[in-house]
Amino acid sequence: MKKGIIFAIILAVGVFAALALAQGPTYVGGQKCQICHKTEKQGQQYPIWEKTNHAKSFAALSSPGAAANATALGVKDPTTDPKCLKCHAPLAGDLKAEGVSCEVCHGPGSAYKSLNVMKNKDEAVKAGLILCANPDAIKAKCLTCHQDAHGKAFDFAAQWAKIKHDIPAK
Ligand code: HEC
Ligand code: HEC
Ligand code: HEC
Ligand code: HEC
Repeated sequence: MKKGIIFAIILAVGVFAALALAQGPTYVGGQKCQICHKTEKQGQQYPIWEKTNHAKSFAALSSPGAAANATALGVKDPTTDPKCLKCHAPLAGDLKAEGVSCEVCHGPGSAYKSLNVMKNKDEAVKAGLILCANPDAIKAKCLTCHQDAHGKAFDFAAQWAKIKHDIPAK
């Protein structure tokens, strides 16, 4: 009887671990990136992002302007409707409130966020970090949300200049 219970526990733990592996990296939230990406030496990526509207894009769905956009797209509640969330807050659960956060563009961070992985670009990419190879690839990423968003044109060069967050040259 006891053996049976122990076996069942071992089996449950094994199945759980296998499921976790199969699901791949998970989203950890921008606060975790902030720990390392806030200093001047690193390039202040987090403070730069925090000042952009990408950090406020979920809140925008409860703004006075949201009602008009919602009516135009036939949406009742912008804060829960996938028609708005897909661009304004693509991550699920608690991370919804972060809006267009680090991991929306760079991929889920659970496996690449540790220092020894982050320091090695190839290892980081293997662990799920998403980078763009060139300006055309960056522009294509932006256009997944900015192409004719609310009928507005998108000037890539000008808009990228507003949000870019380079690591300073050493
Ligand atoms: C433990 C510290 C640490 C954490 C946490 C961390 N990073 Fe990093 N990250 C680094 C370091 C160090 C580098 C390398 C910087 C360099 O090359 O000077 C880096 C590099 C990067 C790069 C550039 C890779 C390249 O070579 O072009 C990106 C993008 C990045 N991190 C995103 C993130 C995101 C998104 C998160 C949160 C999910 C995160 N980082 C969390 C330390 C960290
Ligand atoms: C295809 C992606 C996309 C979808 C879908 C989308 N939006 Fe937007 N939304 C944007 C972008 C991009 C901007 C910023 C446009 C700009 O100023 O360049 C924006 C701006 C806004 C703004 C103005 C925010 C501010 O800071 O003043 C509001 C309000 C808004 N959207 C509400 C909504 C609502 C409500 C929905 C769903 C009915 C929705 N959006 C669906 C991409 C989208
Ligand atoms: C997942 C969807 C998504 C992606 C990808 C995305 N954006 Fe946005 N962006 C938005 C939304 C939504 C807003 C509107 C936020 C608000 O005003 O509340 C916005 C707003 C902006 C703004 C502020 C506009 C203004 O004048 O206030 C800039 C600049 C911007 N994005 C640049 C970019 C660039 C450059 C890229 C590509 C590197 C990019 N975005 C990728 C969704 C996205
Ligand atoms: C709207 C999309 C978007 C968001 C949001 C975003 N990034 Fe980036 N990030 C990019 C793009 C595009 C590049 C250009 C380099 C690339 O993709 O290869 C980049 C580059 C970087 C780099 C490397 C810069 C260099 O000089 O090599 C770091 C580090 C980084 N991002 C960290 C972050 C962190 C941390 C956050 C959140 C606080 C964040 N990013 C939010 C799109 C984004």
